[in-house]
Amino acid sequence: MNILILGSGGREHALAWAVLQNPKCDKLIVAPGNAGIAQIATCASLDIEDAAAVAGFADAHSIDFVIVGPEAPLAAGVADRLREEGVLVFGPSAQAAQLEASKRFTKEVCAAAGAPTAGYAAFTEAEPARAYVREQGAPIVIKADGLAAGKGVIVAMDEATAIAAIDDMFGGAFGGAGAEVVIEEFMTGEEASFFVLCDGETVLPIGTAQDHKRVGEGDTGPNTGGMGAYSPAPVMDEAITAQALDEIIRPCVAEMARRGMPYQGVLYAGLMIENGRSRLVEYNVRFGDPECQALMLRLGGQALDLMHAAAEGRLDEARVNWADDHAMTVVLAARGYPGAYDKGSVIDGLEALPETSFEMCFHAGTVRQDGQYLANGGRVLNATARGATLAEARARAYALAESIDWPEGFYRSDIGWRAL
Ligand code: AMP
Ligand code: GLY
Repeated sequence: MNILILGSGGREHALAWAVLQNPKCDKLIVAPGNAGIAQIATCASLDIEDAAAVAGFADAHSIDFVIVGPEAPLAAGVADRLREEGVLVFGPSAQAAQLEASKRFTKEVCAAAGAPTAGYAAFTEAEPARAYVREQGAPIVIKADGLAAGKGVIVAMDEATAIAAIDDMFGGAFGGAGAEVVIEEFMTGEEASFFVLCDGETVLPIGTAQDHKRVGEGDTGPNTGGMGAYSPAPVMDEAITAQALDEIIRPCVAEMARRGMPYQGVLYAGLMIENGRSRLVEYNVRFGDPECQALMLRLGGQALDLMHAAAEGRLDEARVNWADDHAMTVVLAARGYPGAYDKGSVIDGLEALPETSFEMCFHAGTVRQDGQYLANGGRVLNATARGATLAEARARAYALAESIDWPEGFYRSDIGWRAL
């Protein structure tokens, strides 16, 4: 099978690594990729949000199977176009990708499916939104309806913050994404991520994870794309997992099919767990980053068979070969992230790192110049490891992180504290 993966982060490096463990992969191209991915696969420059360009590329390179990493190409209809051209693709249609691209859409699907989630109201104008906040009081959660690169959610602990968020969103702070605003009930509890594959009908769980969104130790400081993650999430015990599947995920997937927009790909449910029951915080239509890095290390080469089965509508025959293991990924970021940071600093020690089925350093934002790796983003490397226990995975991941010589980078030293 000739495979094309779309994306350029640590998630895509982990997907590429897993796909290459599977002998069914003949040729692998990652577009656009990064310097770490270039060590294991061919990288190609391509505008991955341009559906016609992606379809043309797939045709020119005899691609049999496309795996879409990030949400933006999905929302832009790249999977639809590939399917029209007869190319097998892992990832939902633009209509189904509304589960991430529109918070209001997701709320409506949950309502129709009877899936437990926070109470809400949606607004297209500021004044009624402000009035709603005054009536409901704080804490309350203000969300831009559309895709806002993970920044469109304000958890407002007081009314003034909520009103300011409404004014920002309708004032254009998030562009078109904020033309509609969803206001939600504030939920308390413990958060976890649940990943399932879907083929339009069948739902197959492939793992749980928890991430650390805040930049600082002890989960303090500003929000980031994620500073580390581990899998499985201890809070997702058998009972909660069954409840999430029965009350949230399966009814929503059935509702999508009923609407004529069957969901195919990975569905990432962000859950809030309290009193032995989960409620939906949000859906994403892609793997989490960095959660994917931990998941891929656990799944290995079978990830390709599972994604392929999802794309071909054969998930009812697919089985996950579960290992009783744990994985952790620690994000190395450029000093200053998630605020302003410099690019171009030299990273040493990467060549000497062990690369085994137990430990891999995935690249999230690197370039190679004159034989050296340079930092080229905010989140730059993902030291990822697995073991028989979370403590063992943690020790291996931190041993990797410590052997990287990058004075301009930093990482949190407490990933997994809640579970350890
Ligand atoms: P999202 O981008 O929707 O995942 O939101 C980002 C984060 O905001 C979530 O991971 C939660 O920590 C928090 N959040 C979102 N919605 C709610 C809610 N209704 N109640 C409490 N926290 C929320
Ligand atoms: N790590 C959170 C996300 O990928 O959305």
